[in-house]
Amino acid sequence: MPASYRPRRSCLSVPASSERFIAKARDLPADQVFLDLEDAVAPSAKDAARGNAVTALTTGSWQAGIRAVRVNDATTPWAYQDVVALVEGAGPALDVIVLPKVTDPGHIVWLDLLLTQLEQATGRDGAIGIDAQIEDAAGLAQVEAIAAASGRLDALVFGPADFMASIGMPSLTVGQADPGYAGDAFYYPLMRILVAARAHGLQAIDGPYVKVRDVEGFRRAAGSVAALGFDGKWVLHPDQITAANETFTPRQADYDRAELVLDAYEHATDVDQRGAVMLNDEMIDEAMRKMAIRIALKGRAAGLRRPESYSPPES
Ligand code: GLV
Ligand code: MG
Repeated sequence: MPASYRPRRSCLSVPASSERFIAKARDLPADQVFLDLEDAVAPSAKDAARGNAVTALTTGSWQAGIRAVRVNDATTPWAYQDVVALVEGAGPALDVIVLPKVTDPGHIVWLDLLLTQLEQATGRDGAIGIDAQIEDAAGLAQVEAIAAASGRLDALVFGPADFMASIGMPSLTVGQADPGYAGDAFYYPLMRILVAARAHGLQAIDGPYVKVRDVEGFRRAAGSVAALGFDGKWVLHPDQITAANETFTPRQADYDRAELVLDAYEHATDVDQRGAVMLNDEMIDEAMRKMAIRIALKGRAAGLRRPESYSPPES
């Protein structure tokens, strides 16, 4: 877990071909906004959408803290043009590139090299990050190597729609398996992505929930991956932003407890020089500190109210 935490509770997808959607998205309180040049844009509209994305980033303001663009995947003729146009045209206004359909670590190595060249040529300060979408059988089979492929990686993102198509899951509802299967069909890809992400210090993000009017369904889907440890989820609608920001923020009681554990553990190790200490009726140690730090960083990033500071028991 890094010392600071840049939240991606809600990652808002906006088709770069639609000026109307771009205009609406500017004031929405998503943690990340990404302008889409890939599957939300028809092949005939790709060139115009690329220009729209550059203009959208370089003019006006955005409420989202992370401004990203999803380029076309590394096997397409559009991909290099997308990256060159964005970095040359939008420069410091671009924080992250979302790379879809990553099936091989070579895709990440290619993007990393191209970004390095462009950053040198344009004199940009600070490295552009990469969010890698894992969304088919080949990508999932290589997810650990993909997660290790570049220091620019910020997050791994599950793409349920492409994944279902890739493995031949006979359902037409994104994120929902055919009811003929009794288990949780998504546990395996989600857990593999989460473990690969954490093994390399990355965030883990779930993909879209496409029934945009079913906010309760979105909350259930988001709540389930949040409980597993995911950091956020893609969103397609303002109602989903609110739900995602709430769902991926720790509950106040959990945050309070996490800060208390950190304070008590620090006091035990630094002042009392002990490695384990009782907090109320529970023993806390270094492993528990690690559990608490992630919740504390998420709570601080979300601006939760700090609890009263810890007062050590009289000894
Ligand atoms: C997202 O890109 C998906 O395929 O679900
Ligand atoms: Mg996809």
